Amino acid sequence: MTASISDALLDWYDRNARALPWRNPPGAPLPDDAAWPYRVWLSEVMLQQTTVAAVKPYFEAFTRRWPTVEDLAAAPEDDVMAAWAGLGYYSRARNLVKCARAVAARGGFPAEEAGLRELPGLGAYTSAAIAAIAFGRRAVVVDANVERVVARLFALRQPLPGARKPIREKAEAITPEMRAGDFAQAMMDLGSQVCTAKAPRCLLCPLSSDCEGREKGIAESLPIKPAK
Ligand code: ADE
Repeated sequence: MTASISDALLDWYDRNARALPWRNPPGAPLPDDAAWPYRVWLSEVMLQQTTVAAVKPYFEAFTRRWPTVEDLAAAPEDDVMAAWAGLGYYSRARNLVKCARAVAARGGFPAEEAGLRELPGLGAYTSAAIAAIAFGRRAVVVDANVERVVARLFALRQPLPGARKPIREKAEAITPEMRAGDFAQAMMDLGSQVCTAKAPRCLLCPLSSDCEGREKGIAESLPIKPAK
């Protein structure tokens, strides 16, 4: 059952993954490139409160100007702040410089979620995303898109934020050992392209036959927002 969910999702991702400048092609081995974790980290920090479309040109500009974490660590903070202008949430840019310097000082990114979590600016989501995508670790990666997919898949009717714990448990249960990074990004793509907040496109969904929310006719109403 749970194996069939991740298999169906990964099979869908193999055919439908968005090609993004920070992404490895679906199913490909992790790049053997010292700058790979840097690119994943940079993209995840930029994507924290910003859309994929807005991030793309900034990601391209940053990686052209500072191709490695050592290059970014050596940059004057003012240059990085100026390059960040327009992306918003400027504490991210200040933490970006701090984090780059910490990583350069320790000789590279830690590969485990716990080590990543100690770096400036990295919360639970970002640490899990980098562990899975950059290092292939089996980490449970839950952002708002994933919350929506999981709440619907298992018809979790508890309102947020209380639903976060059962959502995380269900997300953990369906996360595969292999291809953890592809699985995380497949969940994100499914949430943003198919299992959308309004008018989910269930006819296109590779998980529709597994989806309890759809079966019960309540998918679109989930997850239930906190009472105001
Ligand atoms: N949002 C945050 N991280 C993402 C990723 N790696 N791919 C697509 N959307 C994302």
